[in-house]
Order: sequence, then C-alpha cells, then structure tokens
Amino acid sequence: MYEIALDETARLRPLEPWRAEEFLAHIERGREFIGQFIPFGSTATDVDSARAALQRYADMRAADTGALHGIWVDDTLVGGVLTLNVDAERGNAEVGCWLEPSATGRGLVTRAMLPMIDWLFDGRGMHRVEWIAASGNVPSLNVARRLGFTREGVRREAAPWRGVRHDLEFWSLLAREWPSARAALLAR
Ligand SMILES: CC(C)(COP(=O)(O)OP(=O)(O)OC[C@H]1O[C@@H](n2cnc3c(N)ncnc32)[C@H](O)[C@@H]1OP(=O)(O)O)[C@@H](O)C(=O)NCCC(=O)NCCS
Repeated sequence: MYEIALDETARLRPLEPWRAEEFLAHIERGREFIGQFIPFGSTATDVDSARAALQRYADMRAADTGALHGIWVDDTLVGGVLTLNVDAERGNAEVGCWLEPSATGRGLVTRAMLPMIDWLFDGRGMHRVEWIAASGNVPSLNVARRLGFTREGVRREAAPWRGVRHDLEFWSLLAREWPSARAALLAR
C-alpha cells in the first residue's frame, strides 16, 4: 500500500505476515548477528513460525501498541524498524531496529527511524520515545546517540540473554527535542 524511499535503492514498507517466507530467509542470513543481544526473530525457524512472529506485530498494530516496518534493498528484505510498548494515553513509546550484516554501516536504520519518529511525535502526538539496549550493543547505542536520544541510566544486569546478564541502557527523546535533533541529523 505504501513505501518510503530511504535512498536510491532502499525502501521502508510495512512488514506483514504474508511476507513470512522472505522474513525467514532474511532471519536465516542474519540470525547470529541479529541475536547477539536481542531475541528478535529467534522464534522464526520455519515459514509457519516466521508467520506467527510477524502476526504478533500485526496484532500489536491492531491493538495500537506497536508496528513493524521492513527495509528492502533492491527488493531484498535486509532489516527493519519497529515500535513497541506504545501507550497513546500516556504519550510514551519505544522504538527498536535490526539489520542483517550485509546492510550495516550505510545509515539505513538511522534514515528509517526519521519517518517513524516523525510519525510518533507529529502523527500520534507522543511525548516521549525510548531506546533500550544492552550496554555492550555499541552500534545500537550509536544509532540512538546519532538520532539525538539522551542517556538516562542503566538497569544493571537486567537482561538475561544467552547465559549472560546484560546491563540495559535506557535512552529517551522528547517531542520538544526532536525538531533540532532532526535538523542536526539532516545537516550532517
Ligand atoms: C543496531 C544496528 C541496526 C545498527 O546498525 P548500523 O548499520 O550501525 O546502523 P545504521 O544503519 O544507522 O548505520 C550507521 C552506520 O553507517 C554509517 N553511515 C554511512 N552513511 C550514513 C548516513 N547517511 N547516515 C547515518 N549513518 C551513516 C555510520 O557512520 C555508522 O557506521 P559506524 O557506526 O561504523 O560509524 C545493527 O548493529 C544490528 O542490527 N544489530 C543487531 C540487532 C540489534 O542489536 N538491534 C538493536 C537492538 S537495541
């Protein structure tokens, strides 16, 4: 129904359950890398479980608590951005992202976050957007910093994952901070 051009070859589109086969193929290409700090996509091991994983986000979208958008490069799904824990009444939301290794290092997620954060603040009237990542997930924290998020603090050893309890960093961006953060990003 709709897509947003991120550059000459990259497109941002809704990532819906009917795309289960390409989602599974993408997760297979990126499973180890994507799963270093987060469980995203880990339950997708065949087409049915991939469809179920996408359906969970479709259900969130229907409930107005989240949404999933994929990033395609030359029509190959390579990653995406998502909203979750959207609380429209209180004006709070969380964003997240992932890429398969071949798509990193070219600003795709940073660029994809722009229309999504625009939508959260301007379209949905959110007051605050959160970014939560393990302290060791430096590329993720770099994206948050690049987007103008402010580091709030650390929940020490709060995230057990693959046998290790990771420190979790909480970063946030407020609606009133977004216009200047956005302008600074675009001016780079
Ligand atoms: C987090 C993750 C998506 C970040 O990927 P990324 O490629 O570093 O992020 P972006 O797409 O925004 O690209 C930024 C990189 O491209 C470079 N870049 C090139 N052109 C750019 C542009 N026009 N705009 C912004 N950055 C650009 C940046 O310098 C940066 O590289 P650097 O960190 O080496 O300096 C990726 O590491 C990942 O998928 N990790 C596994 C899943 C995960 O942990 N997700 C986050 C959970 S909290």
